[in-house]
Amino acid sequence: MQLLYDSMTGNVQRFARAVQADLLTQHGLDVPLYNLRQAAPSGEAGGHYLLLTYTFGQGEIAPFTAAFLAQHSAGLRGVVASGSFHWGEHFGRAGDLIAQQYGVPLVARLNKGGTQQDRAKVVAWVRQMITDAPKSMSSAYQQDNQEVA
Ligand SMILES: Cc1cc2nc3c(=O)[nH]c(=O)nc-3n(C[C@H](O)[C@H](O)[C@H](O)COP(=O)(O)O)c2cc1C
Repeated sequence: MQLLYDSMTGNVQRFARAVQADLLTQHGLDVPLYNLRQAAPSGEAGGHYLLLTYTFGQGEIAPFTAAFLAQHSAGLRGVVASGSFHWGEHFGRAGDLIAQQYGVPLVARLNKGGTQQDRAKVVAWVRQMITDAPKSMSSAYQQDNQEVA
C-alpha cells in the first residue's frame, strides 16, 4: 500500500505527510508517500494506493489527478479529497466523482488541510488495508498457481 498525493497549494501534501508520520510513529508502519506528478505506483502489493487529492474548477477533479487516473487506476483502492466549505454543494466533490467513477470508497473529505479526526480516520483505513492485504494476496497467488498448473 502506498500514499499518492496531488497538491497545488500544499494542504493535501501537509495532510498526506502527517498521515504517513502517524502511521509510522503510532503503528510502526512505513508506508511510502509519493507526489503523483513525479511518480507512478509501483512495487509490492501490485502498486495498490490511496489517492489524496483536491477539488478544482467548479467541483472538478484536478487536472494532474485526472490524467494520472486515466493511466493508473488499476491500483486505486480509495480516495481522500480536499476542498473548502465555501464551495457549498461542490465541497470536496472531486472525491465523489472519483469514488463513483472508479468504484472505490471516499475515505475522507477534508476542509483544506483536514483535522486530527480526519487524520485518525485515514490512518485507521490504511492500517486496515495493510492488515487485510495478506489474505487477498495469498488468494491471488493461489489463483495464479492454478492457472499456471
Ligand atoms: C481555482 C480553484 C477552484 C477550486 N474549486 C473548488 C471546488 O469546486 N470545491 C471545493 O471544495 N474546493 C475548491 N477549491 C479549494 C481547494 O480544493 C482547496 O483549497 C484544497 O485544500 C487545495 O488543496 P491543495 O492545497 O493541496 O492544493 C478550489 C480552489 C481553487 C484555487
